[in-house]
Amino acid sequence: MMAQLKAGVIGAGILGTQHATYLAKRGVRVAAIVDVRREAAERLASQVGAQAFTRYEEMFAACKPDLVVVATPDPLHREPSVAALEAGVPNIIQEKPLATTMEDAEAIYNLVEQRRARFFVNYANRAAPMDIATCHVIREGLLGRVVYGESRLDDNISVPTQMWGERTRQWAGGSSTAHFLLSHVVDLLRWYFSPAEVREVYAISQHEVLGYTPDVYDAYLTFDSGLKVRVKAEWIKHIDELVEFYMCFSGSEGTLIYNKRGGFNTLPGWRANLSARLTVEDLLAQREALAARGATVRALVHQPSPTTGWLSAGGEKTMLSLEYQGLGYGDPEDLVGCFLESIEQGTLTPPSWKGPGPLPTHEDGLKQTQITCAIVESAQTGRVITLNP
Ligand SMILES: NC(=O)c1ccc[n+]([C@@H]2O[C@H](COP(=O)([O-])OP(=O)(O)OC[C@H]3O[C@@H](n4cnc5c(N)ncnc54)[C@H](O)[C@@H]3O)[C@@H](O)[C@H]2O)c1
Repeated sequence: MMAQLKAGVIGAGILGTQHATYLAKRGVRVAAIVDVRREAAERLASQVGAQAFTRYEEMFAACKPDLVVVATPDPLHREPSVAALEAGVPNIIQEKPLATTMEDAEAIYNLVEQRRARFFVNYANRAAPMDIATCHVIREGLLGRVVYGESRLDDNISVPTQMWGERTRQWAGGSSTAHFLLSHVVDLLRWYFSPAEVREVYAISQHEVLGYTPDVYDAYLTFDSGLKVRVKAEWIKHIDELVEFYMCFSGSEGTLIYNKRGGFNTLPGWRANLSARLTVEDLLAQREALAARGATVRALVHQPSPTTGWLSAGGEKTMLSLEYQGLGYGDPEDLVGCFLESIEQGTLTPPSWKGPGPLPTHEDGLKQTQITCAIVESAQTGRVITLNP
């Protein structure tokens, strides 16, 4: 069945190359590669045995693909996605963010609805075991009611200054940490805390170093559940790693710390200190539930060391925790694998998808874009932006 899928990939850059080689490995027939840079299209096409094009209109006519992957730069998603939908392509996998403006996001969303196409947005973090575990723990109420969170997802300064070669300045200038980085975080938060939605956004930005794109966005998101989360993303960090990704959530009964990638030699890991309401049997059952979701974690019953005299860390004498030591971010193409199985089986919850809820679609993309655009608008105007349901 999968061998019969015929795909075209639009955008033969970093992600387009990753997707095309993965699709070929999965037995999808990669028939066409499109890139406005002819040599990039030809290089990737020769790697995967495809035909190279510089215009997607020609590719649609020549190949009639039943799957199109859109991996163009952030502000350039609308045209190829809309063209694929108008050409009648039934399945589209598009890179995040859905778009960098609401006009673009709505144009894509409305056409997907009109054409009844299958449209996935590649929020790749959703397939990482560490994120599936975070989503599970929060949705199962193992921290009580989560009231506050903080997140930092920062790139090494080499990303906005070097990553796309001589195109870097233009690339980074056409996007920002709001669209490039916070799109991931915003999507993860909506997924972890579903069905809660962001209702209010307040953000600041900084513009002192790069000049062609903001250095930093730092935003406060208030959900309709009352949850408040601070989300911050920088492009000016001189760190050893390419990315630094940390989150922490405080519930009424527990705390979860997620250190997906440290900025230098800090050890990656994940720890959820759970509600004291749980029994050891509950703890073991939750460990089993996470293993079934592909997240192998340790169950701990421990006595946190008192730090000052009679005070015990966490406020309890013994504490039940789930813990993961290691990277925990899985294979970057895991979510695309789930999209392929979703196309094959006609369901948004195929067996290979281990996370809670359905796979991310244009609906998630629209909400994500609404929130990231509100972050940009709030930072520009200094106003709190209220989002309508
Ligand atoms: N899901 C993830 O975890 C993840 C990670 C990194 C990047 N991304 C996203 O993937 C997308 C692509 O990023 P990238 O780093 O591969 O960029 P890139 O610049 O390396 O690749 C984009 C390619 O698209 C081509 N292009 C531009 N306009 C085109 C058009 N109209 N028709 C055909 N080709 C066109 C460019 O020439 C370039 O080769 C971005 O939206 C980015 O945010 C996603």
